[in-house]
Formats: sequence, C-alpha cells, structure tokens
Amino acid sequence: GGSNNDNAFKLGFSAVAKGIDDALRIPAGYSFSALYRLGDPLNASTGAYANDGSDSAASFQFRAGDHHDGMAYFGLNAAGLAKDLSNNARGLLCMNHENITQIFLHTAAEVGAGFNNSARVPAQIDKEVNAHGISVIEVLKGSSFSINQLSGFNRRYTALSNMEISGPAAGDDLLVTAYSTAGSATRGTLNNCANGVTPWGTYLTCEENWAGYFKRPASSTLSAKAAAAQNRYIGSSASNGSYGWANPAGGDTSGTGQYDRWNITPTGASAANDYRNAANTMGWVVEIDPFAPGATPRKRTAMGRFGHEGAMPAKAVAGKPLVYYMGDDAQGEYIYKYVSNANWDAADANGGLTAGNKYLDDGKLYVATFNADGSGTWTELTITNAAIAAATYGFADQADVCINCRLAADAVGATPMDRPEWTGVHPVTGDIYITLTNNSKRGSTSLTTGGKSYGLDAANPRYYDDGEGGKGNPNGHIVRIHETGGDHAATTFAWDVYLFGAENDQFGNASINISGLTDDNDFSSPDGLWFSQAVPGLMWLQTDDGAYTDVTNCMMLAALPGKHGDGGPVNVTSAAVPSNANADQTVTTQAGADATAATLRRFLVGPKGCEITGITETPDGKTLFVNIQHPGERTTAADIATPANFQSHWPEGGNARPRSTTVVITKDDGGIVGA
Ligand code: FEO
Ligand code: CA
Ligand code: CA
Ligand code: CA
Repeated sequence: GGSNNDNAFKLGFSAVAKGIDDALRIPAGYSFSALYRLGDPLNASTGAYANDGSDSAASFQFRAGDHHDGMAYFGLNAAGLAKDLSNNARGLLCMNHENITQIFLHTAAEVGAGFNNSARVPAQIDKEVNAHGISVIEVLKGSSFSINQLSGFNRRYTALSNMEISGPAAGDDLLVTAYSTAGSATRGTLNNCANGVTPWGTYLTCEENWAGYFKRPASSTLSAKAAAAQNRYIGSSASNGSYGWANPAGGDTSGTGQYDRWNITPTGASAANDYRNAANTMGWVVEIDPFAPGATPRKRTAMGRFGHEGAMPAKAVAGKPLVYYMGDDAQGEYIYKYVSNANWDAADANGGLTAGNKYLDDGKLYVATFNADGSGTWTELTITNAAIAAATYGFADQADVCINCRLAADAVGATPMDRPEWTGVHPVTGDIYITLTNNSKRGSTSLTTGGKSYGLDAANPRYYDDGEGGKGNPNGHIVRIHETGGDHAATTFAWDVYLFGAENDQFGNASINISGLTDDNDFSSPDGLWFSQAVPGLMWLQTDDGAYTDVTNCMMLAALPGKHGDGGPVNVTSAAVPSNANADQTVTTQAGADATAATLRRFLVGPKGCEITGITETPDGKTLFVNIQHPGERTTAADIATPANFQSHWPEGGNARPRSTTVVITKDDGGIVGA
C-alpha cells in the first residue's frame, strides 16, 4: 500500500518504546506540557484545585471536569472576539468529560465511609454530576499554550445543564418528562465520548455510556413495549444506576426533580416527578456552538440514539449532502451513517446552530451490513421499511425509529461488530476507517444482539484465547470502507481490514499477528482514530486497553494508511472456537503492508492506568492537543488513605492524586508534529 498523501509526508520520529512507568513518553526532539487538568479553574475567581476531595460541588461549574475525551480546536481571531478558524495561536478548545474516577473526587474520609447507592450524600452527587459534561476554554499561545482565564467564552456544560431536543423526535410522547412536557428539552449531556465538527464551526459531542446511570425498574412494572426498549438499551435487570444519583439520602428535596430525573420507574410517579422517559433524552449527538456562549446546545435526534462513540464527517463538498460516520460502542452493536437531505452550501459556513437545524435535523440514518465477499450495504432506518414497520417491538412512527434505532437496525439484519469506536475519513482517498476495539464475547453463543446469537463473520473474524484471561477478540482490529464510486451518500460499499491488533507474545503466530506488527508498532484495543487536517493522510491511533497493560500502558501511534484494496485475501485461523462460530474466515486485508516501519509507528505511551483518547491540533499541525484520561484508574477505595499506594500520581508526581489532563505536544524545531 502506498501512502496516499499529497505532499509525500514521512514519519520522522523514532518509535517510542512500550513501557509501564508512571510517565508520559514522547519521541526525542518533542516536548509536552500539561495544559488543562481535572479541577483546573476556568476563571480567575475560582481557586486552584486542592486535589484532595475538598473542592466544592458548585466550584466544578467553573473547573475542568474529569475523564477528558474527544476534543476539537476552533480558531479565534487575534483579538479573541470572533471565529477565525485559521488562527494557530488563539482558539477555543471544546472538550468532553466522559466519566469520573469517583474515589478521587471525594475526601479520604468520604471514600472511607463508602458510597451507598441506595442513599447518596446529595453534595457528592452534585459534584459528580458537575464533573461530567463539556468544557469550552480559550487557549492562547505565548511561549506555549495556556488557558485564558479572562475569556468570556469559557464555560462548562454539565449533566445538569439545559439542552434543547431537536429534529424528528423532538416533541414526541417518548421524550416527555416533568421537566419538559413538550418533549423539547432536557437536563444534561452525559458520557460524552468522542466528537465531531461541522463545516460551520460547531462542535458535536456524543453520548456513549449513559444507559448505566438510570435507576431502572423491573420489566414487570413496564408495558411490553417499554420493557423491550429498556432491555435493548439499558439491560434487563432492575438497578439503582451506577452511581445511585436517583437516590439522595432523604429523597429528592430539590423541588426541581434534579435527582428524580435519574429514576425511570413509572410506578407511583406523579406528574411532578414522572421521569419515565428521561433515558430517552440521552444517547444523542449534541451540537454546541463554541462561539455562542448563550446558545442552548441541541440534541440532534435525526442522527439516532445509541451508545454514540463519535460522529466524524466526510469532507464537505458544495452541492453534495453532508455525511457523518458513527459507531455504537457496545459488544455486538452496529456502525451507522447519517446523510443530510440538504446539499452543502458554503453560504452556511457561519450559520451556527441554525445551519445545524438545516443539515442535522433533516436526513437519512443508515446502518451497515458487512458481507463475506467484501461487499456491504447501508440500509436506511425508516418507518417505511417493511421489516421495521413489521418489527415485534411495534414502532409507532419515525420518531420512535430515531429513539430506538438499535431495534430498527436489528430488524434489517445489520452486522453486529466488535465494539465500534471512532471513525475517520481519509481526506485524500475518502476511505472510512473504524476502530473495533475488542470483544471478549466474539465467537461465543452467549453474545446476542437483538436476541440473535452469533459467532465469527468475515468482518469480525477472530477468536482466540490469549492465555492471560483474554478471549474472543482481545486485541481488536480496524475495518476500512470504500463507498461505491467514492460517493459518501452511496448505499453500497466495499470493505477490508486495515489492521489487526496483536501483542508481542503473539508475534510468531501469523493467525493472530496478521498485520505483522513489531515492537515499534504493536498495539491492542484501538479506540481513538483521527486524521490530521494539516497533513493529508496522517492518521493518529489511540488505545484503551486492558489486555496489554502487563507490558505497556496505553499509547498513541502515527500512521500513513494506504487505501482500500491494496491487500489480498488472508485466511484467518481461529483456534478452539465454540462450535457455532463459523471458524476460519477468509478476509481481505493489508496483510502487513500497512504496518511497516514507514507507515505505522508508536509516538506516545501514557502514564499508568490511563487511556489515551481525544486529539486535535492547530490548523498548521504544529501543536497537537492530546487527552490522557483517568491515569491511576486501578487505584482502589482502600488505597485512598495511603497515597503512596495510588496506581499513578501523574501529572503532579509525589503522592498527589492523579488527574485526567490535556497535554500540548510540539516539535522542538517548530515543525509539524509527526514529521
Ligand atoms: Fe468512551 Fe467507546 O469509548
Ligand atoms: Ca472511546
Ligand atoms: Ca474504549
Ligand atoms: Ca476509559
């Protein structure tokens, strides 16, 4: 495979070695600084972060949230007053705060007392709610980048902030809550994982693992239809929700239902606290205008409701629809795309959320089916599809299809994938790359999607036991799609596998190390995947790994992918698969051509217990922003009283609590990062 970049860009750095030390490793000739850490203040009137659990819940409305994830840089003009997307020295960073490490948000005494999910301390809930959501922060370059605490653009959106609901499902009965009897608003954005951007300079933030937060009743208390929807999205068991936010000690005395809204039990609800539909207000792509602090974010329901990882665009072309590729990250879930009905008109380039209404509220939602012969189909999820109209679930209308699109995708025979994470569109070839991070249940009859069990297929072809507790597809892979005719609105495509993850103890096993990885580029559990906008064809790959942490902390690699069809068919031998699994798939893959020393190289290794996720750059490609999420995540509650026992102390060192952090990476000679 050739590298398809216009300017023959070559990776110029020396590969960073794998390692498990509590440090951030980058190549020789590069430097990094910590820009924005958990708890850092957004304004001058908020004090420095104590980082001992004593910082107040309310202060988190003006502090960095936790678990930094997807982000995007939007240039501001030199005066810092308006949009200038070309500015390399001043911009707005929009950033997701996906989740929390609960024990690091509270004092040692609080952690020691334990967290009772049947009776939480309300102030603790409030802090956790405020540590989720989004940051918008102005970053300004002096000798290096720092936060401009005086910027009027700086703000947080939390899991309590007002959000509008927009698009075909807005106003539907399934979105009515006590907060919005019109079904047109909700409070909070939650588990914002990866992201996207629009050609009019707005930020798309994507709600992923929200389902676990709701207090779910037993199915016997629900209508058959409501139970089917909750089973498909939230799981089939009654639950208090992962942090017990529905259960403040003493009940919800807020007068606003701010705790009751996490309880989706209809039984006993009066109009004032009926939040049975609250979970339907999460799971969306949410649009934020970074340049309009007063504008309420909008949940774009035409793009479907699921465990949204990200929404990455194809290149906007005048006179063509806008297209977004989207993964639903859970075992056996699907890959989707959204195609706007309106064709792109550059006159909308400053349209803000009004442009969003035009392009993101009116379009077609498709789901992918991968065939064994390397072809594939995008099937539109519409109530006019006979299989959807006839589904047992009983769709009422197109709003119901948008809200419960997983059930619609089940009905049309979409292909269950090995946890679809980020997507990225190669700016030169137009090929779409999709990370499939891992799937411990692949090949097992216990894995079902929409009630259907399945084993191996050509697009998810591997089962093995890695001998260290990992089974199924422990190391993940990356699929690549080429739309028919290069048209992103096409309804058919061709696909192959770009890379298979593998660990160093499997280098000699050609049926596992299919891509021929070496010590300089081996990886496991690909998750973040992003194409530079400055260097056509330069791709960054980030990992969120549990299988390889005995050898290395999570990492980021640089890649120069070839193009679909460069490789040839390879037979993937899967040892000891369960009998249902249709073993030994033949797949078309690059078979190593995309994993040479010239085309795939490790750039960064993070500190202990972190995930590397979220990346953006200045338009010249000379400053890279990378998020280090949840360092020290394997620290236990029992460790809190003994800081020396924390898994990580990064970035402060000493005995400090670890902090999710945005780092700024530059090349010491001022060149393009990666060169
Ligand atoms: Fe938030 Fe699928 O990673
Ligand atoms: Ca992710
Ligand atoms: Ca992941
Ligand atoms: Ca994570």
